[in-house]
Amino acid sequence: MTRRLLITAGPTHEPLDPVRYIANRSSGRMGFELAVAGLAAGWEVTLLLGPTPAVPPTGLTVHRYESTADLQRLLAEHFPHCDVLIMAAAVADYRPRRVIAEKLPRVADQLVIELERTPDLVAGCVAGKRSGQRIIGFALEEPAMLEQRAAEKLRRKGLDAIVANPLETMGAEEIRAQIMTADGRVLRPPGAAHGTTKAAFAQWLIAWLDG
Ligand code: CTP
Repeated sequence: MTRRLLITAGPTHEPLDPVRYIANRSSGRMGFELAVAGLAAGWEVTLLLGPTPAVPPTGLTVHRYESTADLQRLLAEHFPHCDVLIMAAAVADYRPRRVIAEKLPRVADQLVIELERTPDLVAGCVAGKRSGQRIIGFALEEPAMLEQRAAEKLRRKGLDAIVANPLETMGAEEIRAQIMTADGRVLRPPGAAHGTTKAAFAQWLIAWLDG
């Protein structure tokens, strides 16, 4: 039977006016590597991809999003059909409370933008999860607080597992990550102390999913 993998990857752009947005530095590359590894292992892969100039791999279904609100709609549509969700997207924590209809003019000396918290998308998926579905989140943390903060997020969001990443991973070639599971295990890929390529880490994570 086909196993379906849903991956989210990339940043979000939160609109401020018709030409401006608030964004982050995520490249989406970890998500691409997970998609490639998933395809190679025989999964049917759907990628929900944020606004990144990087070109996604071929062989999978890709749906593009811009904002957290777009991604929320795509997840509502695609999450019910997957067996595993890997939430690698760097979803904004805050967004402009309202989108200004016309381009903001440069008139005031100071400009205050009011931000509102975004909904926690992965926690929303957990709340609607059916039996057998697994949800894996990502956490990007200061190295000194990595395990403590990732473990807290894993519990707070009700995830099955979380990939705990030190902050310097964003945009880097190598990854020094570990998987922390809901039942308290901490798993590291071979060679983790020196860092592994994102491709090698992705293959290891996908093999763990199958194991
Ligand atoms: N996430 C999400 N929706 C959000 C923010 C984050 O689904 N609005 C997901 C991310 O895709 C990731 C996980 O939650 O898989 C952890 O993201 P992170 O930004 O580290 O978590 P936060 O809850 O925003 O925690 P923090 O207060 O440290 O920013």
